[in-house]
Amino acid sequence: MQLKKTLYRTIVLFVLITFSFAFVFIENTDNKAKPIKEVMEVAKQQYSQMLKHSSELKNYPRTTDKNGNTKYVSIDDWTGGFWPGNLWYLYEYTQDANFKKEALRWTESLESNQFNKSHHDLGFMMYCSYGNAYRITQNKKYKDILIQSAKSLISRFNPTVGSIKSWDYRASWDGKTVWYYPVIMDNLMNLELLFFATKETGDPIYRNVAIKHAEATLKNHVRKDYSSYHVVNYDSVTGKVLNRQTCQGYADNSTWARGQAWGIYGFTMIYRETQDVRFLEAAKGMANFYINHPNLPSDKIPYWDFNVNQKGFTPDWKYNPNLFSYIPRDVSSAAIVSSALFELSEQLGINGKEYKDFALSTINTLSSSAYLADTGTNGYFILKHSVGSFPHGNEIDVPLVYADYYFLEALLRNNQLTKISAP
Ligand code: GLY
Repeated sequence: MQLKKTLYRTIVLFVLITFSFAFVFIENTDNKAKPIKEVMEVAKQQYSQMLKHSSELKNYPRTTDKNGNTKYVSIDDWTGGFWPGNLWYLYEYTQDANFKKEALRWTESLESNQFNKSHHDLGFMMYCSYGNAYRITQNKKYKDILIQSAKSLISRFNPTVGSIKSWDYRASWDGKTVWYYPVIMDNLMNLELLFFATKETGDPIYRNVAIKHAEATLKNHVRKDYSSYHVVNYDSVTGKVLNRQTCQGYADNSTWARGQAWGIYGFTMIYRETQDVRFLEAAKGMANFYINHPNLPSDKIPYWDFNVNQKGFTPDWKYNPNLFSYIPRDVSSAAIVSSALFELSEQLGINGKEYKDFALSTINTLSSSAYLADTGTNGYFILKHSVGSFPHGNEIDVPLVYADYYFLEALLRNNQLTKISAP
């Protein structure tokens, strides 16, 4: 009997030790975080290659095609400003004159966008490029271009609605709704340009528009549990909300991961600029929803929508659950959230530790081989595994230039190597 017991104990001990070793081994090989120096070395090598392959100043790297080659977009695309923005962040870290030269060239190639009034994305296009250029060089020419961009952006503001119109007319997925005045959560990100314009000109108009827009977004896009609607469509005559739907998410009532990420980043930035606690509560509430969501994978890289395949959520577009054997993750959301949470934790001081820990853990995961590209691969982008728009069948499980942008920003913010602009 005693012999049997000893044998049993020995077997249990053996199994436990074997599993512990296996676990430690897996952790160390697949998920070990790289120090910033090593991550930046990958970024440097990837973007040096990207520069060699991207000589045409009118083609902006955005993602990869089906063969894994770099795919470019034109000056009208909402993502054009991220590429020069990435070069500015790399310059800030490396102080390499060539990155500065290229950052300047690519930034200046976007100049005509200062007059673009066709959508709301001027903040992304101009603040990520010219905003960084002005912050780093203090060249007055860049400030003037930013102010003109802010003028163009506020031309889309309707005081009755209290919001900037994100897109012009388009139909919803089920074809039953026509959006004449759609406003999307993402639009919060463009407001940083407006706060900048008021600080530089002394004219309150830009800041006032930004605050009105932020208030309407808080009221109409953010749900009671701090999840978020992607699209809110307004009646432009009465200002009433007509519909709350999705365009890039799973279902109208679901939470699209990147929409939630834009909200966390956007409200954190708006709190920085206004010191209004309503926006701080929004940033914290949306962050808590994201961090504590039962459907957030343990490595903290979200699925492209928090509610894919869940009961109670029905897509009104042709969703094929068998198209992928897995639910794709969206690294771009993780990168945006990590950068936002470094700022939020700074705003909160000692009360921000939980957010900082989460952000650190996220950038560590993103720096692991599971998400960081091997040099010479991934179309010369830094991070793998993002989703542009699943419902459109576009950019699923691919690199995205804006995932790289917010990842670089998060790395620099964590190491206090870039300045978060203050009021
Ligand atoms: N603003 C577009 C997107 O997040 O995909």
